[in-house]
Amino acid sequence: MLTAQKARLTKILFAVQLTVMAAGVVATAGVLVKSRVDTLRRRHEDSIASADAPSACKGATGTLALLRAWLDGAELPLPVPGPQPPVDDAVRARGAALFARHCATCHGTHGGGDGPTAAMLIDRPATLSRGVYELRTTEHESLPTDRDLFRTITEGVHGTGMPPWFALPERDRWALVAHIKTLSKEFAEDEAPPPIEPRAPTPTPERVAHGAQLYGDGGCASCHGPSGRGDGPAASSLVCQSGEPVKPRDLRLGRFHRSTRLEDIYTTIVTGLDGTPMASFVKVMSPDDLWDVALYVQGLAPRFVERSDGLRCPQAPIARDPDEAIGLRMLMHSLQPTN
Ligand code: HEC
Ligand code: HEC
Repeated sequence: MLTAQKARLTKILFAVQLTVMAAGVVATAGVLVKSRVDTLRRRHEDSIASADAPSACKGATGTLALLRAWLDGAELPLPVPGPQPPVDDAVRARGAALFARHCATCHGTHGGGDGPTAAMLIDRPATLSRGVYELRTTEHESLPTDRDLFRTITEGVHGTGMPPWFALPERDRWALVAHIKTLSKEFAEDEAPPPIEPRAPTPTPERVAHGAQLYGDGGCASCHGPSGRGDGPAASSLVCQSGEPVKPRDLRLGRFHRSTRLEDIYTTIVTGLDGTPMASFVKVMSPDDLWDVALYVQGLAPRFVERSDGLRCPQAPIARDPDEAIGLRMLMHSLQPTN
């Protein structure tokens, strides 16, 4: 980060420090009553909102402006990392230190998903020690690639507390990838299969109409609802492998795990979000069908305009997400210079 940005970040953060500390104390004391959480949440949001511009995507170039744009629903540019540096013990040790500083508050010291901040989130942090990953470009029930992990860390996960860590130097994000892989024995026993490489077709009205039909007949509507609002008949009874209840995303809201890029929606439908009820449909639908249903789903989501730098800005404001606000607060807190 540039020094000027850092200074600005520090200034804005100063005002909210106390809230964060208070939240930490309350969480550790184990006296989190729901109303208290709600109050804290509201305060968190207030302080971010007061430090905010009306349309965050406007002129969003610095770190802080990009983070605000993300909070307002913008989709971040795809990371284009250089070659992955070789992993040795020093890299893993650096990853472990970074994890303790930036990530353990949610994911827990050993990746058990049980850090002190976890209790404040509606969507619980991923249990990294289980080695089951939602966001992969690899087939159902397999491990993610290192690049998949790098992307998740860089871009965060919209609609959840997982904030985007693009402000960390690239080599630190790679070190975190190396460390995360030591948290679960799966990575020692197995390796990631080759990633899928989606090539989007040209959309036509016929393909979208066919997608709509598949969406209804193919079972999507039973969970995601006839109009994509996440209110299908099966929606209220869904649970993750961890036993946590989960709701199908409201596809009309525009806070997609990856993004509303067609290739990303297709990847979700093809690979499934492992550990959640969102299955892979690769054995159920033909490749053309999968693209058609992806086209239809993209049409349900709000419109985004992609800038030349790859930042995708929502055309109309998207409601803020309370988990995202908490995640961003934790990120800004832990990115502050310690000296
Ligand atoms: C404020 C809480 C919070 C912090 C801090 C945080 N995470 Fe997360 N993280 C989450 C949540 C919540 C999810 C689950 C997202 C979902 O449901 O898809 C998650 C998911 C993930 C995933 C897995 C996504 C998948 O494919 O299933 C990875 C990897 C990850 N985080 C890495 C990190 C790393 C590395 C850091 C530190 C640099 C970090 N997280 C910091 C909350 C947090
Ligand atoms: C059994 C219920 C169920 C069915 C059937 C189902 N989904 Fe899902 N889907 C979910 C759940 C639950 C999630 C969210 C998981 C989470 O939040 O971690 C989800 C997530 C998604 C996402 C991710 C949105 C984002 O945030 O990026 C897309 C896209 C999606 N589903 C499309 C489909 C399509 C298309 C079909 C039909 C081919 C379908 N789903 C069928 C339950 C279902």
